[in-house]
Amino acid sequence: MAQQASQKNAKKIVVANWKMHGNLKQNEVMLTDFIATLSGLKHTQVVVCAPYPYLAQLQILLQHTPIAWGAQNVAKNEEGPFTGEVSAAMLRDFGCAYVIIGHSERSTAYCESDENIAQKFMVAKKHGLTPILCVGETLIEREAGVMEMVVGKQLDTIINMYGAEVFADSVISYEPIWAIGTGLAATPAQAQAMHKFIRGKISSLNAGAADRLKILYGGSVNPQNAVQLFVVPNIDGGLIGKCSLNAQAFEEICLAADESAQ
Ligand code: PGA
Repeated sequence: MAQQASQKNAKKIVVANWKMHGNLKQNEVMLTDFIATLSGLKHTQVVVCAPYPYLAQLQILLQHTPIAWGAQNVAKNEEGPFTGEVSAAMLRDFGCAYVIIGHSERSTAYCESDENIAQKFMVAKKHGLTPILCVGETLIEREAGVMEMVVGKQLDTIINMYGAEVFADSVISYEPIWAIGTGLAATPAQAQAMHKFIRGKISSLNAGAADRLKILYGGSVNPQNAVQLFVVPNIDGGLIGKCSLNAQAFEEICLAADESAQ
C-alpha cells in the first residue's frame, strides 16, 4: 500500500533550506543559476526556503519560473501584538507556497513544543501554504532504538489535535538530528525504514491522506548520496541545507531527484 502510494505520486520535491545565509547579491547569482539549470525539470518540484527579508527578492526573480519558494518558519497566531513574528498571510503576500515547520535547529534553540509546531502546521494549511513538517530523533534516541516511538509521538501531537487527514497535500521531512550538518547522512536502509513507518502510520489512520503526502529526507544530503537515497521507495525528495548554498551541488541533487522519478 505504502509503496504503491509513493509510485502513484511519483513527482519528487527538493527543498533548499538556506537557513541564516545569503545576501541580496549572492542570492541573485544563485537564483539565476538555479533558473538556468533547473527550469527544465519535468519530475521534480524545486523549492527555495530563504530568510524572511529575501522573500520579496525570491518573488521577483522566481515568479515566472517553475521554481517555488517559501519561508523557514511562521507564527502560530494569525495576527496581533506578537513582536518579531511573521504570519502565514504575510508569507502569502510574498508568494510563498511552502513553509518549513518545526526544524530541530529552531525547536531546540527556541524551545518550540510539539503543540506549537502543530499550531503552526495548521495555520500554514489554513492560509494555503504547504507545510514541510520536520521530524526526527537524536543520536541517543537512535542508539536506544526508540526512533520510531519519538517520531510517532511528534506526529501524534498533530493527529490528536487535528486528525490524520491534515497530512493530505502536506510534506513531512524526516530529519535525524544526528545527520543534520554533520556530513553523516542516514543510510538508505535507515531512511527507508523510517519513511515506511511514517507512511504506514498515516495510512493506518487515513489511507487517502497517506497517498497524498510527500515524505522527504533531510540531513547531510550531497550529490553522491542523493543518487542512492532518491531511488528508495517512500523517499519523495530531500530537504537540503549545506549543499543548497553551492549552486552546482544543489543542482546535481535536483537532477538526481529528477532522474530517479522518471
Ligand atoms: P544539512 O541540513 O543538509 O546541512 O545537513 C539539512 C537540514 O537542516 O534540513
